[in-house]
Amino acid sequence: MNQLSSSPINSLKGIINIPGDKSISHRSLILGALSIGVTKIDGLVFSEDTLNLINVLKTMGVKIIKKGKKIIIYGVGIGGLKKPNKTRFMGNSGTATRLMIGVLSNQEFKVNISGDKSLSKRPMSRIIEPLTEMGAEIKSKNGKLPVTIKGVNETLPINYNLTIPSAQVKSSILLASLGTPGLTTVIENEITRNHTEILLKLFGANIKIKRKKNKNLISLRGQQELIAKNIKISGDSSSALIVGAAALITPNSEIKIKNVNVNKTRFTFFNVLKKMNANIHISKKKYISNEETADITFKSSKLKGIHIGKKTVSGMIDEMPIFSVIASFASTNSSFSGGEELKYKESNRIDTVYNGLLKCKVKVKKKLNGLIIIGNKNKPYGGSTIQSNFDHRIAMSFLVMGTASKKKIKINESNCVKTSFPNFTTLMNNLGAKIS
Ligand code: S3P
Repeated sequence: MNQLSSSPINSLKGIINIPGDKSISHRSLILGALSIGVTKIDGLVFSEDTLNLINVLKTMGVKIIKKGKKIIIYGVGIGGLKKPNKTRFMGNSGTATRLMIGVLSNQEFKVNISGDKSLSKRPMSRIIEPLTEMGAEIKSKNGKLPVTIKGVNETLPINYNLTIPSAQVKSSILLASLGTPGLTTVIENEITRNHTEILLKLFGANIKIKRKKNKNLISLRGQQELIAKNIKISGDSSSALIVGAAALITPNSEIKIKNVNVNKTRFTFFNVLKKMNANIHISKKKYISNEETADITFKSSKLKGIHIGKKTVSGMIDEMPIFSVIASFASTNSSFSGGEELKYKESNRIDTVYNGLLKCKVKVKKKLNGLIIIGNKNKPYGGSTIQSNFDHRIAMSFLVMGTASKKKIKINESNCVKTSFPNFTTLMNNLGAKIS
């Protein structure tokens, strides 16, 4: 059952570093593997998701070693992966899976890809469709895992209009296009995280991004080898926001998190928090491996509610569970709509958040692809056991809620925290939390 419980506390204090960004970690591993030469990565998050990806790459002929806290990858070139001898297990990670299926579209062998219970429920047709157009043969049942994929040496160039705002779909196509003798263009109607584009540029890919009206046109000319690079990865902003949120809702608290990724495509929640009256301060901005990074200080705050729509939701898609939790500590009502994509994450996040909040005696109502969370001058009661549904962000968000609600909150299936933030409990307890 692996249950964790979080008890109310009086204060959180400290200066900490947070594990490296998971999105950048996945991309660095993949691009290191596909480049020519030796890539050294400093700051990779050693979570279940990235360890699974390292294993998968190793079984496809990539030499990867760990030296101290660094990872060293001996790249095999863009089409240089080898056929593994059995089905490759991707664990819980939608990002690693969707990005790797893109990569495998451009490798001339057949391979089966499977995942855990949560990942096996998530839609893959969103990548199967464009990758099939690019020449890959992909078989699946109902567009879900397990899938069998047979890649081609030369993928076909496509122009793809992204109807779902998804960095995973965009990245999958861009990675497949590395083997294309021509120009592939992805048209992005809503901006999504751009770590793939930043890293591809850093590794020397022929990639261009044009802004046209409200769209991004991202074009990549393939069949050009990538050159290995040394990468430094800054702290994961989604993890930082979960820890920081605990300081916002717990009295007498002040936490400084150093070297957090503050890439603008991941910044929407910071702006929302400001509007909610959150006491947040950003300092020491600098660039690390072309990604903007800063120190962030979070202090106890008297939060007020906010109403957010589709565009804002898609800019903070991973932060919606923690947003919903802190909204229940706000003095006025909050709501969000347009969260269709939340249904396809590690759990159906509208349902898991709704059920969790209800159990903690928060007044919450469902609306079409969203929730209304009733604000209250008194803190939420808590005092309940929540199902994480194997979703790390649900588990961590409700553990944070437990630090500041009236009664302790317990989380079932809390092992999933390891998929993104293996030292979450230790780090929170060092700040003053009571999670056990
Ligand atoms: C991610 C993109 C997002 C996000 C996920 C990580 C990525 O998913 O929810 O946690 O690294 O590209 P979508 O692209 O499906 O929205």
